[in-house]
Amino acid sequence: MRHRLLVVPLSVLLAAAPVQSAPDGAKIYQRCAACHLATGKGVPGAFPPLQSDVRALAGMPDGRRYLVLAVTRGLAGPITVEGKTYRGMMPAQGGLDDESIAAVLTHVTGTIAGGGKGVKAFTAAEVKAARESGATLDAAAVARLQPKLPAK
Ligand code: HEC
Repeated sequence: MRHRLLVVPLSVLLAAAPVQSAPDGAKIYQRCAACHLATGKGVPGAFPPLQSDVRALAGMPDGRRYLVLAVTRGLAGPITVEGKTYRGMMPAQGGLDDESIAAVLTHVTGTIAGGGKGVKAFTAAEVKAARESGATLDAAAVARLQPKLPAK
């Protein structure tokens, strides 16, 4: 067996290098869809919709902090979503780093809730600050942080 010198062009090496891509919010949303459904319309009385109220929350600093903490600390109502009371329990969503949480919340508020480009994307830095600010809260305390939305 003769060994041949293997000459690999640089372009091939670069193409084969693992790409550090940003986390995919739509892919991460699949775990949320188990309860909130792929459309985000939720299940009446059980899982609230991630639609107009979530869109409104994304436009308020307190609302954005609440959205981050719902994911990182969980949520145990009563909360009101689109005029209906929910007394459920959303478990804290583990295994997501700040970038992944930013990606999924950007997907939820922009695409699932239909905020489109009108919604400011979440950044990892914003998620980190919100997560740290509420690190000692339990799910019931996060529910009490839900900002009141102006009546429609
Ligand atoms: C195991 C089911 C389950 C999963 C998985 C889940 N949720 Fe929830 N979610 C709930 C329940 C139940 C509530 C309502 C909690 C209550 O009644 O206090 C809720 C509430 C929420 C709210 C509050 C909405 C509002 O208008 O105040 C947001 C935001 C939310 N979930 C986002 C997410 C995101 C994002 C994910 C995925 C990262 C996710 N949820 C995964 C069950 C789930």
